[in-house]
Formats: sequence, structure tokens, C-alpha cells
Amino acid sequence: MAGQPDIDAAARLLESGELVAFPTETVYGLGADAENPAAVAKIYAAKGRPSNHPVIVHLAPGADIGRWAMSIPHEAGALIDAFWPGPLTLIMKRASAIPSAVSGGQDTIGLRCPSHPVAQSLLRAFKAGKGGIAAPSANKFGHVSPTTARHVRDEFGDGSDSAVRCILDGGQSEVGIESTILDLSRMDSLGPVLLRPGHVSPEDFARVIGRLPASPDAAAPRASGTLDAHYAPRTPVILAAPDRLPAILQQLNAAGRKVALMRRMLPHSSDVTAQLALPMTPHGYAHDLYAALRAMDLADADIIIVEAPPRDAEWQGINDRLRRAAHDSAGILSTLLKPIV
Ligand code: TXA
Ligand code: MG
Repeated sequence: MAGQPDIDAAARLLESGELVAFPTETVYGLGADAENPAAVAKIYAAKGRPSNHPVIVHLAPGADIGRWAMSIPHEAGALIDAFWPGPLTLIMKRASAIPSAVSGGQDTIGLRCPSHPVAQSLLRAFKAGKGGIAAPSANKFGHVSPTTARHVRDEFGDGSDSAVRCILDGGQSEVGIESTILDLSRMDSLGPVLLRPGHVSPEDFARVIGRLPASPDAAAPRASGTLDAHYAPRTPVILAAPDRLPAILQQLNAAGRKVALMRRMLPHSSDVTAQLALPMTPHGYAHDLYAALRAMDLADADIIIVEAPPRDAEWQGINDRLRRAAHDSAGILSTLLKPIV
């Protein structure tokens, strides 16, 4: 676990325009000084991410939101009181003094105050707690988000040639999937819009602001975490309904394909190359999900099959990530079921 000297050293690196990876309660972030466009550009280069995709700005507890956002709706204050620090990102109109590089040129800004103690110490040490750390998840564009320091090293290396100058270790991320993103930038016309489901649910919002958020529409700002193909390991992933799983396994075996299987209970009779049991509860499942996908990706299988979890509201964030990881299930399956020639 990173101690205060490591955290202070990381803060100095950020202040000098370098990249630092740090733990949050959701996933690990790849951080840069949000007010330094050259430093933000290094994030895009290291991730291989298109530069028109906005990045979330992380703030210390009690930071002055008015320095970052303008025309702040009153709902924002209520949501901040209820859910910060925590896994919630709020999109608002960007203050004019904040460089647009961090927003991919859009006139909005995504703000979040993380609850992880190492993230909070880093935010307090960086620019005496008055700065913002721009940080997307610390993975290559489109790949599975990291939930341990080891995952970040696997993505970017840690040698002297790595663009990531320091990786702060904070253990395994507690929540395990990325923050809920709520767009409050067009309250007058659209009301609150849910851009990415997560641990903070629509019902949680309704309890605080008295209404459920709308689903994203075509006019919503682009969020890379909302692209169809995202959060994916290199091995093709398919989602299989529990009742279809035995037949799919049998067909893949008959076609000579190596299968890595993830489900909430261990399979008993099937012939698989690798298998992993995930927890029964949504919180436990989210906590383990990305580490499991990474482990299955190393199993040298032709395909990763994830047994579809329940569709209840508390599984919404998980189902969203799984759908994107498995965005072409039908195509993958038909290719793999053709005989090997
Ligand atoms: O839990 C998380 O949110 C993690 C940790 C590190 O905080 N971060 C994360 O960042 O998942 P990233 O970049 O992988 O996903 C953030 C999403 C992206 O899809 C991005 O497009 C969207 O937030 N986003 C950021 N600022 C935005 C803005 N101004 N308008 C619309 N979407 C925005
Ligand atoms: Mg990401």
C-alpha cells in the first residue's frame, strides 16, 4: 500500500506535468494535472484514446466546485451531499477558465470526488488540494479497466520507458466497476440523464432529487464508456443465458473450441479449459468482474463465455459492462462453430 512519501512524490510528478496511476474505489485511474493541456495530451497518447473523448476530473473532498463548473443546478449540491466522496461523476457546464482539453473540446466537465483513501491523500497533496486530477481508467483504449496496481503494470509496464511515471498501490478497488455518470448539463431541456449506470442507481437519485434520470439520447455528449465495444479482453467474450449454456458448451466442444467459463456457480460436468465462479451478489460480482475477465483472458481459450447474470435493477451496471465486452456474441459464436480446417 502506498504511504505518504510515495503519495507526495506522485503529487510532485503530477505538478511537473507527468502521468501517475492511482487507486480509486471504482477502478484505477491514469492521472494528469487537469489544468495542464500538455499533461492531459499525454493521457490520450498513453491510452491510445481519441482526443475528442472527455476525461473525468477528480477533486479533493470539500473542493470548490464553482472553480470547475458554471451554472451549477441545485440538484448537484444535493447529489454531492448524498454521494460524494463516492462512485458518482456529475457532468455540468465547464467554467470558462478551465482549459477545454480535459473535456475533449466539449463545453461540459465531468467531476468526481473519489472515496479511496490513497486517492484522497493524493488529491490533498496535489496543488495543496486546490487542483483537479484528470483521470480516465488506467487501461489501453477499449480494454478492461484495472482494479489492482498489477493490472495497471500489465497495461503500461513500469520500466523507465513507461509513460506512466508512478503507480500508487491501494489494493483491490472495492466497487470494481466505473462510476455512475449523471449528466446535469442540460437540466432545463432534458433534466438529469444517466450516461453510464453504476453503483449509484437511478433509484438512489430519485430518493435525493425526486425524479428518475432519463436514458441517454442521441444528443447526449459522447462518453467512450458508452461505445458499443468497450471493457473487452482480447479473447472474444459472449454472454449466454443460463438455459442456453449447456447447448452452447456442447456445440463448442464438438467444434473443438477451448472455452473459459465464468458463472456464479462452478460448472459441474462441462469440458472447459478454465472456469471461474463469481459471487452471487451484485456487489461481490462487480468487485471481482474485471479481475476475472483478465484472468480468463490469460487462459489461452478461444472464447470466454459469461453466464448472463439476473436482469434486476441492481445488476444494471454489471449487465451494461458485460454487454459491451460481449457486443458481438452472435457473430463470434457462429465463427467459432464453423469446423476448424
Ligand atoms: O470510476 C470512474 O469513473 C473511473 C475512475 C478512474 O474515476 N474513471 C473512468 O474514466 O471510468 P473513463 O475515462 O474511462 O470513463 C469516463 C467516462 C468516459 O466515457 C467519458 O467520455 C465520460 O466519462 N466523460 C467525462 N467527462 C465528460 C463530459 N464532460 N461529458 C460527457 N462525458 C464525459
Ligand atoms: Mg475507461
